Amino acid sequence: MPLRLPGFLLRSGVVRRAGDCSAPSSDILSEGGAWAIHGPLLRNPRPGERRFGYSLPGLRLEAVIPAKAGIHGRCSTSVRPSAAPAKLARMPTSLIIVDDFLSPRDALQLREVGLKLTYPEQQGAFPGRNSLERIEIDGLEHSVSHLVGERVRPVSPLQSHAKFRMTLASDTGRAKVHIDQAYWSGILYLSRPEDCVGGTEFFRHRATNTDRAPIHDDEMRAMGFTSMEQMHREIIERDSTDESKWEPTMQAPMRFNRLVLLRPWLWHTAGPAFGDRLENGRLVYLMFFAAA
Ligand SMILES: [Fe+2]
Repeated sequence: MPLRLPGFLLRSGVVRRAGDCSAPSSDILSEGGAWAIHGPLLRNPRPGERRFGYSLPGLRLEAVIPAKAGIHGRCSTSVRPSAAPAKLARMPTSLIIVDDFLSPRDALQLREVGLKLTYPEQQGAFPGRNSLERIEIDGLEHSVSHLVGERVRPVSPLQSHAKFRMTLASDTGRAKVHIDQAYWSGILYLSRPEDCVGGTEFFRHRATNTDRAPIHDDEMRAMGFTSMEQMHREIIERDSTDESKWEPTMQAPMRFNRLVLLRPWLWHTAGPAFGDRLENGRLVYLMFFAAA
């Protein structure tokens, strides 16, 4: 018999007390705005993790936070391109934009979930804050694999995968143009339509005349570098915030419920932040995938 929560439907599974996977309690606790659910519906948490979940018809949302709560998955300029993929398609795809990725109802509910999460103060390189909790969207791997035409899985470690990011106009950071450590990155825009400003921005690095970081060593050497570390140091760390070093090439405009899948080695920024509070700020759901 399905169990109905306010606005949510738990289709199956045993509901247990938050943080205690063994107690056969049927309690449902609201903790940090999230319902605590454990049971067959959700995967077993890893040691040291607690899981918080929502289940919607056709959409399962699951949050994972470490037992000792702390900030993780924080953005940093120290990221390097992931190890060169063993094989890229002969006609590699760099950018995919999917509108109305979720049903209107699920997109609104995902946004509502995101607004209830915890956004601790962070001293990251980029403006904004990641949610402490992770929210897992059921079937996401499958959907994204279908979209990119190859099998992907969440990166390991998870970095910021499945976290929300909230950025307000007043937020500041130490870095702008960057690359991510993944095989595919995904950004699902969740700001209200009337609040959306700008979008994810892409650039050409003037000195090297490139729109992305090298993926393989031969590309790296052709750009004049002897190591990926040197490349990262002399492009990202040195030029990240110097606008004169970058030519804007395109922008994926922010739009509610639009998913942007991009190759993380493209030189890019998050684009402008806006708003003065959670409800009207820049809210996105982050995805980082590796090749499966
Ligand atoms: Fe990024």
